[in-house]
Amino acid sequence: MAPEVISFARGAPSADILPHDAVREAAARALESDWERALSYGTGAGHPGLREWIAQLHGVDPERVMVTNGSMEAAALLFRTRVGGGDRVLVEQPTYDRTLLLLSQAGAELAPAPLESDGVEMAAVEAAAEAGPLKLAHVIPNFHNPAGCTLSVPKRERLVALAAEHGFLLFEDDPYRLISFEGPAGITMLDMDEADRVIHASSFSKTVSPGVRVGYLVGPADVIASLSKTAGQTFISPNMLAESIVLELCRSGELERNIALVNAALRERRDALVAALEQKIPEARFVTPAGGYFLWLDLDEDVDAVALLDAAKREGVTFVAGPDFMIEGGGSSIRLSFAPVPVEDVAEGVQRLATALERVRAASPA
Ligand SMILES: Cc1ncc(COP(=O)(O)O)c(C=O)c1O
Repeated sequence: MAPEVISFARGAPSADILPHDAVREAAARALESDWERALSYGTGAGHPGLREWIAQLHGVDPERVMVTNGSMEAAALLFRTRVGGGDRVLVEQPTYDRTLLLLSQAGAELAPAPLESDGVEMAAVEAAAEAGPLKLAHVIPNFHNPAGCTLSVPKRERLVALAAEHGFLLFEDDPYRLISFEGPAGITMLDMDEADRVIHASSFSKTVSPGVRVGYLVGPADVIASLSKTAGQTFISPNMLAESIVLELCRSGELERNIALVNAALRERRDALVAALEQKIPEARFVTPAGGYFLWLDLDEDVDAVALLDAAKREGVTFVAGPDFMIEGGGSSIRLSFAPVPVEDVAEGVQRLATALERVRAASPA
């Protein structure tokens, strides 16, 4: 029987695809072979073994890596230390709601650039860079949260060139890179950067589990050294036990096995969601995500996403309304996360959404 509430709201996987046994076994091994490091304070740069593993993954020197308590902490550190009141920061529209929140808290002046089906609109980025100095540009290159789209390689090249030309930091926020359903994701902007302008954030939240709270930054050595120092002065070190366990998962090959498992499950959920939307809400326009967790639906302009959410809750389905991801607008858009919904519940969830849409329309005829 379908659950009372089907939630397409949370950007987190359902418990059935969390690697409970693999993490338990990795924790036991970490506490066998690495217990002294795992149970001690570390430095602001994180576990040296995990730092090295990540450095190898990206083909860089370990000095260019710092491990953090999730990539959100990495972003918070970066914004706190690099963005001051009135600094102009380019953000995609829509974008991750917590990024908007953190940048607003830092007092940034947001320069919005709309998204297209292949990532940020370059004319808007170029206009923003010409209009005045940009401190930072925040870009989610793969399987965007919330938009589901992926940045094309030519746009990646252009962004890296613009960052070098105008001197802004390009923050490549890339936690979904390995959650890819159609083969490996494209080259990172970090790999393209020859001017030390790219800072890349990623995470084990999607490849292991969100509760493990391990993420990282790879960037110019001086930026990483300064951020690690601030991290050390603020909270001594990130969680060394969690990092030791993650390192075990990486070294043993369990990480790769889990990624394959998660990707197969999420791909099935994505396919079920796309099929159900095409059948039950044919008016909806969306980019089919090639990975990640999210699908962004644009509905007809007469639909108020907030009113739809109210009606949807009454039908037993939830999502996040578009305005949460926008500086302004998004009133007829919604974000559906397929990560938390087991495949057998997806069609029923979309049916409830379609019913809610009909009710909202009936209540306010055009
Ligand atoms: C684009 C983006 N950046 C950062 C994060 C934060 O991830 P973490 O769990 O590593 O802090 C998320 C999580 O949903 C995200 O979607």
